[in-house]
Amino acid sequence: MTKTYAVIGDPIDHSLSPAIHNAAFGFLGIDCTYIAYRIPKGELAYGIEALKKIQISGFNVTIPHKVDMMKFLDEIDENCKTIGATNTVVNNNGSLKGYNTDMDGFLDPVKKRNIDCKDSDVLLVGAGGAARAIVVGFAKEKVRKITIANRTKERADELIKFANSLGVQSDYSDLSNAGNIAGKYKFIVNATSVGLKGNACPISTRSITKDSIVYDIVYMPVETELIEQSKKQGATIIYGWEMLLGQAMRSFGIWTGREAPYQAMKLTLLGRF
Ligand code: ATR
Repeated sequence: MTKTYAVIGDPIDHSLSPAIHNAAFGFLGIDCTYIAYRIPKGELAYGIEALKKIQISGFNVTIPHKVDMMKFLDEIDENCKTIGATNTVVNNNGSLKGYNTDMDGFLDPVKKRNIDCKDSDVLLVGAGGAARAIVVGFAKEKVRKITIANRTKERADELIKFANSLGVQSDYSDLSNAGNIAGKYKFIVNATSVGLKGNACPISTRSITKDSIVYDIVYMPVETELIEQSKKQGATIIYGWEMLLGQAMRSFGIWTGREAPYQAMKLTLLGRF
């Protein structure tokens, strides 16, 4: 029987996950298919029931459900437990097991560029589920400090406590001040959905320099406003599609037990832009 996988979130119409996973299934000749399913905030319980009814084999979780989804899991992988957010779920006859491939997917392109994170300072914009995975990733790489800039301060405060619990110094900046201080940081990471399908920028780029590394996890458009402006200031850029590919390859491995076909997935991804 054909196995079906999905990505759930809202908005979901921009998602490239169906294209890359279906390309990988096709490339390896595996009888599986992958769909996008929009579940608005507040409708997760109903959405999960629907997925179980169609005997979904597994699914990815994206904005805004990565943290809320934890409540619906019967089993939680170690990485996922530490992060407190899930992006990859396996369905075993109605029993859901959560994983998190965001953290390693996020670090992939940093490692590929041989960038050393140790003792560096990070300005992290956003405090949602993706941001949590990034904090764990940077903690693992032994950064010195993570400043969290977020629209909602309470959420940032929670993430600051979390970073501290992992042994990393952390403090808060509001979004408007983040633009003034960005130049002091080695890494500037956007983990909000700002920039997705629009020309908004989460923070001002005025203080970004050629010594900054700007990593935007938004991948649609490829050249977000943040990336475009940071490029003009000479910064090193890491693209959202690189993280997308990294996390997708790992999800694919968890679901199929096969090594994900990197080239087929990358070509499909870049062909879609
Ligand atoms: P995910 O779990 O995928 O990270 P999320 O938990 O909904 O998704 O987090 C989305 C992030 O984008 C949050 O940091 C959110 O800020 P709030 O904590 O204030 O909600 C941020 N975000 C979304 N829309 C935004 C906007 N228009 N302006 C500023 N920040 C925004």
